[in-house]
Amino acid sequence: MTTITLHPDFRVGTIDRRVFGSFVEHMGRCVYTGVYEPGHETADEHGFRGDVAELTKELGVTMLRYPGGNFVSNYVWEDGVGPVEDRKPFLDLAWRTVEPNLVGTDEFLQHCERQGIEPMMAVNLGTRGVDAAVALLEYCNGEAGTKWADMRIANGREKPYGVKLWCLGNEMDGPWQIGHKDAHEYGKLAASTGRAMRQVDPSIELVACGSSSMMMDTFGEWERTVLSYCYDVVDHISMHAYYEEMDGDRTSFIASGTAMATFIERVAASADAIGAQRRSDKQITISFDEWNVWYLFSRFVGETNLPIQRDAPRIIEDRYSGLDAVVVGDMIVSLLSHADRVAIGCLAQLVNVIAPIMTEPGGAAWKQTTFHPFATAARLAVGDALQVRIDGDTMATKKHGDVPTVTAAATIDPETGALALFVTNRTAEEQVVTLRTPGADTRIEGGTAVLADHEGAREDQAAAEAYGMVDALPVSHEEGTVTLRLAPESWTAFHGTMRG
Ligand code: AHR
Repeated sequence: MTTITLHPDFRVGTIDRRVFGSFVEHMGRCVYTGVYEPGHETADEHGFRGDVAELTKELGVTMLRYPGGNFVSNYVWEDGVGPVEDRKPFLDLAWRTVEPNLVGTDEFLQHCERQGIEPMMAVNLGTRGVDAAVALLEYCNGEAGTKWADMRIANGREKPYGVKLWCLGNEMDGPWQIGHKDAHEYGKLAASTGRAMRQVDPSIELVACGSSSMMMDTFGEWERTVLSYCYDVVDHISMHAYYEEMDGDRTSFIASGTAMATFIERVAASADAIGAQRRSDKQITISFDEWNVWYLFSRFVGETNLPIQRDAPRIIEDRYSGLDAVVVGDMIVSLLSHADRVAIGCLAQLVNVIAPIMTEPGGAAWKQTTFHPFATAARLAVGDALQVRIDGDTMATKKHGDVPTVTAAATIDPETGALALFVTNRTAEEQVVTLRTPGADTRIEGGTAVLADHEGAREDQAAAEAYGMVDALPVSHEEGTVTLRLAPESWTAFHGTMRG
């Protein structure tokens, strides 16, 4: 038996809506035949697929990171601007794919603008440095009268884009990264690049690369060293995490959200240690700019084993099960319950590449199972995250030790009193949960759930398309408490009101 207790006055922090971001990398079919496919029957006049744009809107994506990912670490952004007929293809070394340069900075930023989505740009700190980063920022945000801003204007875009969010490279701790650096080299470069970029536009927010996963040998020391160089320059430190079921260890996999929460708390502690040492009042927040389920070790052949390919090859087009959707929901619980530290989140990636949205060239776009928990949370999680106290059982896992059988995050909209409660049942049995809200009148009006029990969705597109949210099991209200039923291995989003 689990009890969840909420109090309207006990809040973690305001949800930064940028936590519902996603990621568009020039990789596989994310861009070409993903977001962009001129000639497709739904394509707009700019070549972007209308069916994908519609699904992106339904998914509730608030922000998009671009253009990589590993891709950015060998990208020459200048080759992707100007008249398309003059642009030359280049061999992207990260994914060993010929990049045609048909979509570049202007196409992407204008697409974001048309969709009402905030862009997050990454600069190449693998093969390039301060110079190229500053030039790109000036190209995007500069006013007329300087070289790069005038180039943008000559390319047909008068008004600066005003891009606020900038990543200082990508996964620079990873030996697979083109131009990989050690923490001292990267920390110095991130600091000098960030400082120079602020000279162009002081209003930007900068993200330093943290660890590519908590399992990196350099984890902890990387954050400490990098932030010792750039604590005063950057606003956020990045985190990346991908989880998968390995060796049939379903129990550890379904508890991935706990590993993610631990990772967040450790990175926050590392950043705070540097802040404390400096007697700084500044707090570095987290940009969790790549997270998802990815069958990286069990299905991916590895970057170096990829043949050189053209024409948007199918790379890591993972198909997802019901269990994967439950795990994605549980990871959203971890992001929301750390609203005081996590400012940015990107479900990686948006289309085709480990993505909630899939397409066929010339064919339809469709939703994977993981679409549903993200879209539901993006719609309901508004306002402040509430502190959630959970009293209940734990279960043993091989990878993460003892973890709670039920996890939850809750949000309240201070304007309307709208309450959202997101709850994961990690056990194979139905669970009855008592929701207590002392000092508040709470009504749960309904709920929808994703269930693990749909293995077919991974194997079969029709089964994946038939997958969706189901009504949550009945709820009863009594004096001061609400009783909720959670289906076995499920993630449920309840909605209602809470008034103090
Ligand atoms: O999202 C796929 C890849 O995963 C990204 O390019 C890289 O940053 C990460 O390793």
